[in-house]
Amino acid sequence: MKDQLLNIKKALLAELEANENNEAFDIAALEALKVKYLGKKGELTAILRSMGKLSPEERPIIGQLANEVRSEIEAAIEEKKTVLGSKEKERKLKAEHLDITAPATVPSFGGRHPISIVREQMENIFLGMGFDIAEGPEIEREYYNFTALNTPDDHPARDPQDTFYITPDILLRTQTSPVQIRSMTGKEPPIRIISPGRVYRCDEVDATHSPMFHQLEGLVVDKGITMGDLKGTLDLFAKTMFGEKTETRFRPHHFPFTEPSAEVDVSCFVCGGKGCRLCKGEGWIEILGAGMVHPNVLRNCGIDPEVYSGFAFGMGIERIVMTKFAISDLRLLYENDLRFLSQFN
Ligand code: PHE
Repeated sequence: MKDQLLNIKKALLAELEANENNEAFDIAALEALKVKYLGKKGELTAILRSMGKLSPEERPIIGQLANEVRSEIEAAIEEKKTVLGSKEKERKLKAEHLDITAPATVPSFGGRHPISIVREQMENIFLGMGFDIAEGPEIEREYYNFTALNTPDDHPARDPQDTFYITPDILLRTQTSPVQIRSMTGKEPPIRIISPGRVYRCDEVDATHSPMFHQLEGLVVDKGITMGDLKGTLDLFAKTMFGEKTETRFRPHHFPFTEPSAEVDVSCFVCGGKGCRLCKGEGWIEILGAGMVHPNVLRNCGIDPEVYSGFAFGMGIERIVMTKFAISDLRLLYENDLRFLSQFN
């Protein structure tokens, strides 16, 4: 029995030693070991139970030895527990280590959309020439969008196929030109405004069309305003936007609210006018519509065309963005694909 007791101690010490470098041997495993040796169904308890079989002389000796073995086992387990405890603490410290000297992680900011970038450039060019920024509603009265702009009832732009009507009288504006009317009505010239904003047309989405896009309107009304002022203004705009060498070309055109009217092209800033892929071999890129404000429009706004004259222009902002950045498909501007957008940061 004495040997049995000593063997128990040996076995436990051997088990502890065997697990010396075992990372998986944790406090829970140690508790299990304690139960195995000292628990109610443990090996030591089993021996103590059978002590009744011993002679009265042997009993105290074995009893004492059993107590010694028990406290030695307890001490060994206690010691191991302390070691495991500090190991655990160390592991935690390492895992939760915080390097307060490490450089901060920079949050990733979004960038500006190319339409916003170009719109702001356009605004700055005109603000530099003394224009103010005017605003008008996207949900507009038919009167401002068409009637006051001298646009006859049978004009194709008024067709429900081309325009989003809310009621026969209210629609999503098809152009920024109604802001001309809002800026002139009840106002005394001089008037010098630009107005950027969204416009809507019943168009199928494709590489060059979208039911929503942006325009920038311009309007100047004063005494003695001529076509020369219009040409000078747009020429300076084109040179600032596309580069010093850019030239402008005015082609006769028709708009109901300007007379005379023109479409304006800029010389291609990639090939300088020789013809390339960007300008489709033309050497010129059309960027806007313009003209001298029609006397009827001035009259509709209470301005005397015998005293005052003015010019107006309207350009598609997407057009300018696509030209400037050589973007071939309009849809790229609306798809919110970060691979596309991040190129403009
Ligand atoms: N509103 C016209 C369009 O959308 C452009 C334009 C504006 C033309 C001002 C002349 C004067 O096509």
